[in-house]
Amino acid sequence: MEKLKSVLLFVLLAVWSRPGAADTPANCSFPDLQGTWEFHVSPSKGGVRNKDIDCSQLGPVEKKVIVTVKELDVVEDDMGNLGFVTIIYNQGFEVVINNMKWFAFFKYEQHGSNVTSFCHDTFPGWVHDVLGRNWACFVGKKISGSSGKKLHPAPFPTNAGRLSSIPYRSNHAFVKQINSVQKSWTATMYPEYEGMSMEDLIKRAGGRKSRIPSIPPPAGMPTDEKYQGLPDAWDWRNIQGYNFVSPVRNQGCDGGFPYLIAGKYAQDFGIVEEADFPYLGRDSPCTLKEDALRYYTAEYHYVGGFYGGCNEAYMKYELILGGPLAVAFEVYDDFMFYKGGIYHHTGLQDKFNPFQLTNHAVLLVGYGTDSTTGEKYWIVKNSWGENWGEKGYFKIRRGTNECAIESIAVSANPIPKL
Ligand SMILES: *[C@@H]1O[C@H](CO)[C@@H](O)[C@H](O)[C@H]1NC(C)=O
Ligand SMILES: *[C@@H]1O[C@H](CO)[C@@H](O)[C@H](O)[C@H]1NC(C)=O
Repeated sequence: MEKLKSVLLFVLLAVWSRPGAADTPANCSFPDLQGTWEFHVSPSKGGVRNKDIDCSQLGPVEKKVIVTVKELDVVEDDMGNLGFVTIIYNQGFEVVINNMKWFAFFKYEQHGSNVTSFCHDTFPGWVHDVLGRNWACFVGKKISGSSGKKLHPAPFPTNAGRLSSIPYRSNHAFVKQINSVQKSWTATMYPEYEGMSMEDLIKRAGGRKSRIPSIPPPAGMPTDEKYQGLPDAWDWRNIQGYNFVSPVRNQGCDGGFPYLIAGKYAQDFGIVEEADFPYLGRDSPCTLKEDALRYYTAEYHYVGGFYGGCNEAYMKYELILGGPLAVAFEVYDDFMFYKGGIYHHTGLQDKFNPFQLTNHAVLLVGYGTDSTTGEKYWIVKNSWGENWGEKGYFKIRRGTNECAIESIAVSANPIPKL
C-alpha cells in the first residue's frame, strides 16, 4: 500500500517542475493582511459555477462578505464565526470560514523594473465550498488600517537575456576554497556544468522567480510531550529495509510554490501522472490526454499550520507521521558543488559565475546526527540526477534554519488511486 505513496510523491515532485506557476512580483506581508476585509462576490462570465469558471471578467457584485484577519491563522466574520487564514508566501492568502474556501493573489502593477504592490487589494480570486463545489469569483478589499501600497523594485532581476548567454566557467579555485574553509561538507567540480549557461543553472535551482524576499523565521519550539520523544534518526529510504522514496531524477525545478501546486492546485484541479504529461525538461505547451487519471490532494498545509508556523520539531513530527515533506530552501552558488557531508552555506561566492539566489523545492526524507561531530542534519532528495551529491541526495545542517529550510515546509496528502 505504501508503494503508492512513493509514486505519488514522484508525481508531486514532477509537477513542481512545471513552469507557469503563479510567482508574482507582489511583495506583501502579514501586517498587510491583518485587519478587516470586504470580499466582493461576483458571478462569473456565463454563470459557470464549477472549476471551469473564468474570473477574468466579473459581473456585478452580488454579495459582500466581511472578515477580519486577527492572528497569523485566525479569521473572524461579522457574526463572530471563527475560521482559518494563512498568507501564502508574499503572494496572496487563503481563508477558510463557514465551510467556504477563499483564495486570491495580492494586486500589483509592474512598469519595467518598478513594481507597485497593492497589498490592501486583490486580483479576482476564487471561492468555493470546502467540497470544491459552488464556485464564484471575488475581489478582496481591505477596509481597515492604512493603505497597503508599496513601491519596490521587481524582485526578479530582468537581466535574463544577458545571463542566458553567459556560459558557466569552471572555477577550480572556488571548489578548493570551499573545501579549505570548512570540514563539514566537500565540494567537487561537476564536468556536466561545462556548456550549461548560467540561466540553465539558475532555472535548475528553482528559477529566478522562486526568490522569496522575506522568509519568516521558524516558530518557537513546542514544549508538548509528543514532540519530545521522537526517534533520534529517521530515513524513509530505509524503514526496516523498505525504501518508500521513488528514484532520484534529473529535472531541475523552475518555479512553483509547493503550497500552491502540490496543495491548492492539486486539490482543486488534480495533477496527472508523468506518462500522461511527459516531462520534457523545457517549457512546453500544456497538452494533456483528455482521459488522464487525475490525483487530488485531500488536505494540505504549511507545517506548523500556517505560513510562519514551521520549525524543526513540527517537521520531524510530520515527516514521521505523514511521510516525506516538501521543503524549500535558499540555493547559493556554493551548493551547486556539493559532493557529500552536511551542507551549510559557506558565504563564499563564485566570482566568475554570476549566480542569483533562488528558492528551490525539494523533498525531505529523513534526519540524523553525525556520530563524530554531533552535528544534526536533514536528509533531502534533490532533483539534479543521481551523479550529484550523495547519489542525488544531500544532508543539510538541522536545527539552525540553514538556508531557511525550517521556515516553509508544506505537507500535502494525495489520494492514491484504487
Ligand atoms: C522607475 O522608477 C524610476 C524612479 O522613480 C523612474 O525614473 C523610471 O522612469 C521608472 N521606470 C519605469 C519603466 O516606469
Ligand atoms: C519585501 O518586503 C519585505 C518586508 O516585508 C522587505 O524586507 C523586502 O526587502 C521586500 N522586498 C522587495 C524586493 O521589495
